[in-house]
Amino acid sequence: MPGEYDQLLEATIEHLQQMKARGTRFVTVDNAALKALTAPAPAAAPARSSAPAPAPASRSLSAFAQAHATATPSPAPAAPKPPAPVPERSMFAPAIGIPPEPVIEPLAPEAKEAAMADLRARALVCVKCPKLVASRTQVVFGVGNIHADIMFVGEAPGADEDLQGEPFVGAAGQLLTKIIQAMGQSRDAVYIGNILKCRPDMPPGEVGNRKPTSDEMKTCIPYLLAQIDIIRPKVLVALGATAVEGLFNKAIPITKQRGTWMTFRGIPVMPTFHPAYLLRNQAPSEKRKVWEDMLAVMERVNLPISEKQRGYFLKG
Ligand code: URA
Repeated sequence: MPGEYDQLLEATIEHLQQMKARGTRFVTVDNAALKALTAPAPAAAPARSSAPAPAPASRSLSAFAQAHATATPSPAPAAPKPPAPVPERSMFAPAIGIPPEPVIEPLAPEAKEAAMADLRARALVCVKCPKLVASRTQVVFGVGNIHADIMFVGEAPGADEDLQGEPFVGAAGQLLTKIIQAMGQSRDAVYIGNILKCRPDMPPGEVGNRKPTSDEMKTCIPYLLAQIDIIRPKVLVALGATAVEGLFNKAIPITKQRGTWMTFRGIPVMPTFHPAYLLRNQAPSEKRKVWEDMLAVMERVNLPISEKQRGYFLKG
């Protein structure tokens, strides 16, 4: 079982290799990072003398990550082992519980198309969660414009999505589509994805949907992170508490967090209620809360807002 530092190292190397494969040739290395690289190497770990010891601070890792992505890296005292094949789930830091802060450059349009097609092909044959593989009709990858400014992130496919192979096509999805249209957009103009790409299985004979487990989210999240890194939207909209939990690897009450900007991989995130909540609670006040969140998103991406739009779901 590799230590945490080794996992981080492998995840960093694989992530940087993916960036390189997608055409990234340089990332920014600031002075602090360069200085960190000239610091003494960490002491060897007792149980793994050939491997670097756990980094005392995340500073070391980010410095390492940045240096490894440059075309001409500075000589580092603690030179890494050649990259070993690593399981895909360690590809991105959040899968192993580390705050994500990669330096990601936007891709050229053709590179985006190619990277997304490649990712999609890999996701469609994913068999990481045997129970979900056994119960799913198909993988529900994501839909929309990969050059979009706005990306919506939901929880997981439900029964309708599992059958149709597209996120947010059931009752909650139809409400999301209306919200998007009220913003003056269409489903084709934005991107829509989920934390999980497969429908969470239900006990035999039971209908409805269940929340993804923490393990399922951690296993599947690299696909969403790769989608985000390819699209690089100007804004992410996290639909409901599970979407926020999946992104930030932390349970945060959505009633407290909605309407307050967060940041994920350098991208502003607007947490809001899941449309399924609005189907359950049709009070105009709750609709207005979601609408205010959408107005904030529209402002953030410089979409025009009419007086009529500003007044939706206001009393009187
Ligand atoms: N709910 C979600 O969170 N995602 C879907 O795709 C459908 C319903």
